[in-house]
Amino acid sequence: MKATTDNEALRAVLASALKSRSALQPRRGERSSAFWPAPHFGLDRVALFCESSEEERNEILRLCGSSLMAEAYFIEKFGMYFAAKMSLSSESDEERILYSLFASDEAVHFNWISSFVSEDSIARYARDPFIRFLDEVLQKEDRLTLSYIIQVILEGWGISHYRALAADCRDEDLTGIFENIIRDEARHHRSGVILFNEQEPSGDEIEKIVAVLARLFAMVQVGPQMIVSQIELVKGRLSTERKIRVFEELSCERETTKKIALLKSLIHSASHAEIILNRLERNFSLRAFSASQCAATV
Ligand SMILES: [Fe+2]
Ligand SMILES: [Fe+2]
Repeated sequence: MKATTDNEALRAVLASALKSRSALQPRRGERSSAFWPAPHFGLDRVALFCESSEEERNEILRLCGSSLMAEAYFIEKFGMYFAAKMSLSSESDEERILYSLFASDEAVHFNWISSFVSEDSIARYARDPFIRFLDEVLQKEDRLTLSYIIQVILEGWGISHYRALAADCRDEDLTGIFENIIRDEARHHRSGVILFNEQEPSGDEIEKIVAVLARLFAMVQVGPQMIVSQIELVKGRLSTERKIRVFEELSCERETTKKIALLKSLIHSASHAEIILNRLERNFSLRAFSASQCAATV
């Protein structure tokens, strides 16, 4: 899909439609993407980062910030696709209204986030395993699996994720945007839990949900790979020993354990939690990797 249109008249209609939905209009134009300080990423505990020149430290922070924004860009873009797909397959008028409104929310979120993302970070992030995973899930999975994975789990996760981004963000406009998105995502998550709890999934449907969750957990278990990749982009390839030390200094096991606990609490927020968690436990999906396991992950 083309990112922009050259049609000036269409752009004017789009701008007016967006304006009618929200008074919040971020300034367009060049910005630094070092939106978060070193402690947000735990980089203040990493010796290699602290010993680097100011220029290198700024570049690592800029790259980490632009990766977070590119991730948000894709998530909001997928949000529009998800809501439209759910609207088309709705079983009642109320559901169709709900998902149509959510599609409008996601379009507004996407427009907000787009003004903070550069084209090169979008191109770089399009190959990220999490983005490719989401793309595949959205295209292939059925309505029940999608509402569970996207609304119950990922939109629930999004609330905490955006809250942490808003708390440490150095750009006032962007902080305001995250705060607005959090309010909408809370509604999206809540309705997902309500709709899922109304269903009586079969054993096969639960197995399908578990299989998608196991892939999602596998991406969390491997720790803060994104941060280490940005360090390598600036400092060059790290030896295995050095990489292990960086993961240790980032407290990878402790931080990942917190993320897994959050995901478990989201599973608990909907029905069938015990059976889903038992299956994930048997699959070793609920354990954070050690620093050396994280460093061995390609
Ligand atoms: Fe959103
Ligand atoms: Fe959403």
